[in-house]
Amino acid sequence: MRVAVVLGTRPEIIKMSPLIRELSSREMEYHVIHTGQHYDHHVSDIFFRELELDIPDLYLGIGSGSHGEQTGKALSALEKAFQKLKSELVLVQGDTNTVLAGALAGVKLGLKVGHVEAGLRSYDLRMPEEHNRRLADHCCHHLFAPTDNSAEILKGENVWGDIHVTGNTVIDACMQNMDIAESKSTVDIPGDYVLVTAHRAENVDDPRVLLQLIETFEGIPREKVYPIHPRAEKMFKQTKLFDRLKDIQGMHVIKPQGYLEFLMLMKNARYILSDSGGIQEEACSPNIRKKVFVLRRSTERPEAVEAGFAEVVGTDSEDILGAIDRFEDGKWKPGPCPYGDGRAAERIVDIISR
Ligand code: UD1
Ligand code: UDP
Repeated sequence: MRVAVVLGTRPEIIKMSPLIRELSSREMEYHVIHTGQHYDHHVSDIFFRELELDIPDLYLGIGSGSHGEQTGKALSALEKAFQKLKSELVLVQGDTNTVLAGALAGVKLGLKVGHVEAGLRSYDLRMPEEHNRRLADHCCHHLFAPTDNSAEILKGENVWGDIHVTGNTVIDACMQNMDIAESKSTVDIPGDYVLVTAHRAENVDDPRVLLQLIETFEGIPREKVYPIHPRAEKMFKQTKLFDRLKDIQGMHVIKPQGYLEFLMLMKNARYILSDSGGIQEEACSPNIRKKVFVLRRSTERPEAVEAGFAEVVGTDSEDILGAIDRFEDGKWKPGPCPYGDGRAAERIVDIISR
């Protein structure tokens, strides 16, 4: 069986890396196809190098654009790629435009398609990710749900694919790379700091939210490390708020970090402020275990909230600072990691090999 592993953005490269390693160690026939949705070195190539992945078999170069344009270009290019590589089974991961394009291109060619990280729902239809994950879940043959909760959501929606609870491959990635990060990371770790990321369209494309984020960072009397996503950097600059952001006392705005560096930044942070999906999961990993204040109105990762790691605090600076104060004053005792034991990739490859 020839497997096509489709990826296009930073989190897909990281979360697909354990699967690629597993396919490779079992000597299965597979190809990696990069749509080129992310193309800058710091959000793409650096991960292939750090995670010791071979360069993709095909690079489609679709680049940035509106959602329709990006998804359409990827759909058309992936259809040709699957035909060229004679793919038989397609694997997509997560909720990006690349995922929707990969799932549709595969199913329309009559190939089997597996969705890794299926069954997540934010119930927030402003989010492009919510459209992508819902549509992908409803056209895939194999649904690899990270938790029982996501499997229940899929059953409730009567999806026609088969559902398997596997854990999340991001925990595999954290487990496989932390020791390497300890010895190879090149990032400077300030003594005591808060780690910050923000890149969601519904946040950084809204100047009012950018201002609230700035007011939040100004209200935190600690060092803050912010590896800035290209979308966020563009929007802070467009709104002329970038200088104010950089000039905040104790603020370190740095380029997006490689995975080894980011693992060290998570592990050593006092706490994390983020609107990222993957970071909510990684914060629960047994070798990270950090509190994440989720800078959003909702989360598709309620397991991280129930386990005590994540807290959805919205984007209003007073609300966020209030939640941080309560955390700093209290005793924090999270539960076990809800996203599996670091063997999700092994289970997924077992299932597709049957
Ligand atoms: C995408 C995903 C999002 C995911 C994120 C991971 C969709 C709809 N969104 O968001 O779910 O959380 O990736 O990081 O698929 N840009 C660059 N260099 C790059 C890539 C992007 O400068 O290499 C800039 C461009 O100005 C571009 C903007 O970032 O227009 C947005 O990029 P895009 O891939 O459309 O969405 P992300 O915000 O990165
Ligand atoms: N990450 C990274 N460097 C950074 C910021 C994030 O390697 O500077 C990793 C992080 O560890 C996680 C993933 O990127 O695995 C999350 O990506 P992002 O937040 O862009 O996307 P999301 O998970 O929200 O889709």
